[in-house]
Amino acid sequence: MRFPVITATLTLTVSSLATAQLTFNITQAFTPGNWEKYRCLDNAKLSLWLPSCLSECQKKANAEDGCAFDDFACHCVNYNAYSDLIEPCAFPASQGGQGNCTLAELGQARPIIADMCNFFNATVYGDYHGCAQWVTKEKTYQVIAGEEVIVTH
Ligand SMILES: *[C@@H]1O[C@H](CO)[C@@H](O)[C@H](O)[C@H]1NC(C)=O
Ligand SMILES: *[C@@H]1O[C@H](CO)[C@@H](O)[C@H](O)[C@H]1NC(C)=O
Ligand SMILES: *[C@@H]1O[C@H](CO)[C@@H](O)[C@H](O)[C@H]1NC(C)=O
Repeated sequence: MRFPVITATLTLTVSSLATAQLTFNITQAFTPGNWEKYRCLDNAKLSLWLPSCLSECQKKANAEDGCAFDDFACHCVNYNAYSDLIEPCAFPASQGGQGNCTLAELGQARPIIADMCNFFNATVYGDYHGCAQWVTKEKTYQVIAGEEVIVTH
């Protein structure tokens, strides 16, 4: 991992294990309102919740991590690859990155991303049923297939 400090800021858990674990808190995922909130989530909707300093890097990571651009079930299970793209892009030089986000902005983004990915790790495509965007289920299930599942309550 090239950016250990950075990873700690954006992701919920830092694991030094070679194999990622599919983790989620089921109670948090099923917080009332979440199914409506995350329904058909695409980059345009997510961008409304995140600091604009991330937008260019979000697009880059969405396009380059092997998942469909607007498939956040895939981006979330694929977070090891996704974070390696978004973090060096968005983090400021003081943190070893090339981006424009301040630590305060990254601190705002962190719980939003953590809650979103907790939801999608728990529900995968459940909330994308009937949505318009292209999704890459094969990629997602391929990532999940190699992982241990850790469920908390
Ligand atoms: C899971 O989420 C619930 C609701 O947000 C929280 O109260 C609980 O402490 C979390 N459990 C763990 C193990 O983090
Ligand atoms: C979601 O699961 C992936 C592994 O598939 C893991 O890397 C990521 O940290 C998890 N996200 C959350 C918020 O637990
Ligand atoms: C950082 O800001 C500059 C000036 O606004 C902009 O040209 C550049 O694309 C931004 N970089 C990223 C990664 O957002």
